[in-house]
Amino acid sequence: MRNDPPARRGRRALLGRLAALPLLAAVPALARALQAQAAAARPEDLLDVMDFEAAARAVLPPAHFGYLATGVDDDRTVGWNHEAFGLWEIRSRRMVDVSQLDTSIDLLGARWRSPLYVSAVSAQCAFHPDGEVGVARAAASRDALMMLSGFASRPLEDVVQARGAPVWQQVYATSEWEATAAVVARAERAGCPAIALTVDNMPGRNNETLLRSMKVDPRTCTDCHVNGSHNALLKAPLYAGLGLPAGALHTPLDWSWDYVRRLRKIVSGRLVIKGIVTAEDTEACIDCGADAVIVSNHGGRDEETLRSTIECLPEVVAAARGRIPVLLDGGVRRGTDVYKALALGASAVGIGRPQGWGLAAFGQAGVERVLDIFDAELRVIMRQAGSPSIAAITRDRLAPRPTIWRG
Ligand SMILES: Cc1cc2nc3c(=O)[nH]c(=O)nc-3n(C[C@H](O)[C@H](O)[C@H](O)COP(=O)(O)O)c2cc1C
Repeated sequence: MRNDPPARRGRRALLGRLAALPLLAAVPALARALQAQAAAARPEDLLDVMDFEAAARAVLPPAHFGYLATGVDDDRTVGWNHEAFGLWEIRSRRMVDVSQLDTSIDLLGARWRSPLYVSAVSAQCAFHPDGEVGVARAAASRDALMMLSGFASRPLEDVVQARGAPVWQQVYATSEWEATAAVVARAERAGCPAIALTVDNMPGRNNETLLRSMKVDPRTCTDCHVNGSHNALLKAPLYAGLGLPAGALHTPLDWSWDYVRRLRKIVSGRLVIKGIVTAEDTEACIDCGADAVIVSNHGGRDEETLRSTIECLPEVVAAARGRIPVLLDGGVRRGTDVYKALALGASAVGIGRPQGWGLAAFGQAGVERVLDIFDAELRVIMRQAGSPSIAAITRDRLAPRPTIWRG
């Protein structure tokens, strides 16, 4: 600790003092979070991905943590996404040669060191000044696939440079076709090999946890968020300079699959549809020429009491019938979660909040540690379960947990 830089020592001391306040002791989660951060001010001291949530909570202003954490209504989809991984049990096989573990995958014409990718998370400068550039550097150092949010707080070209390789660009449907066409063209100029269209984000969601956290944040939002800079249209660099009318970035309520067909015509690389949870919509995506679908519910941020993504995965995989890859995100917090998604047919597995937690707590180094923890945990279960490669993580390695558990 004596070798820590002064800023870290100061932060550690402050957090330690805060954690000791009697008032905070009455709020166990917050006190625990502050203590975790005070006791472990280096990423390598944190043991699992959830520790980073506590660390992020300790350093972020309440409203910014609330933005990262929020679901809708009672946040039940958020909880279910993770809990549902526990509905599957692993059937380990013994006496399998696992001396040469290979976690690499081939996805849409590219090879990746790991099936884990960092999914689109908007406005990451709210978590750390490096924002998406910090995530890109971490992704570069771990050779991870990165999907950049259309509402990222750093310009696409800066992120591509920091990643040192193309990233996938996520976009939303807009009521201004010219805006969609312009950002697709910009992404392709920047070398993005894939456009991911998110289709689960209608206007008007009730992000109650965020709203509550804003009420307890002692700061005045408009001190920093000047001139409407809360507004994605005014703030997102991807849409800067397009001269869009207010509301243009809202998903059009009168949309149909024609939107995807139209997009297919202007995307010259791969077209990925993010936010699919049913067999019917998987078929529609394939019909429209999509190259992949992502089983996702936006991390439970859009619809309450939706089925968890791991529950939706088998039906989507069955509908895809191997014609296109199926990816999954939502509630992935452990290497065993990644393993289970792969066993149920996912070709790659995304994380949202965990990258934000790592970034908030430690910048690039935090995201790297989060990726390393996932990697280490995945390797452990691959060895244990007798799956030396990703292809060897097959459906028969899982059994549904009995409804009435025996133990
Ligand atoms: C703070 C935050 C911002 C997000 N922004 C976007 C976004 O701009 N576009 C998008 O498609 N998904 C966005 N997502 C959803 C993620 O891409 C991903 O689907 C989800 O977070 C996965 O669930 P997890 O957070 O439980 O890992 C966001 C998620 C979070 C937590």
